[in-house]
Amino acid sequence: MRLLLIRIIRNSVPGIPKAYCEAFAFIVDNHSQLGLNLCMIICICNRINEKAASEAVIAGARSPRAVLAHHGCDFNCGKCKCAMGAFLADALDKNPENSALVAAE
Ligand code: FES
Repeated sequence: MRLLLIRIIRNSVPGIPKAYCEAFAFIVDNHSQLGLNLCMIICICNRINEKAASEAVIAGARSPRAVLAHHGCDFNCGKCKCAMGAFLADALDKNPENSALVAAE
């Protein structure tokens, strides 16, 4: 998960020093152990975090676009598509009663 976080940060903030990415990814990846109550943002453009994405999945969203549509938005830069897809796959794997994941747009 930490490597995915580092990739997301580096793609989202061009030119950010690698040490900053690693430090931020460490904090986010270990927030519960550190006693922090952080919720990772998946889509920066639309400020969709894991909690908001989970709400969309519970409501029936089965694709990254459906997660954003649940919150009344659509892709802007599109850099979150992979991370959103990975989050959906994890969320649906945790609850096998959910129907199949729709391929990422
Ligand atoms: S980060 Fe999601 S559309 Fe830009």
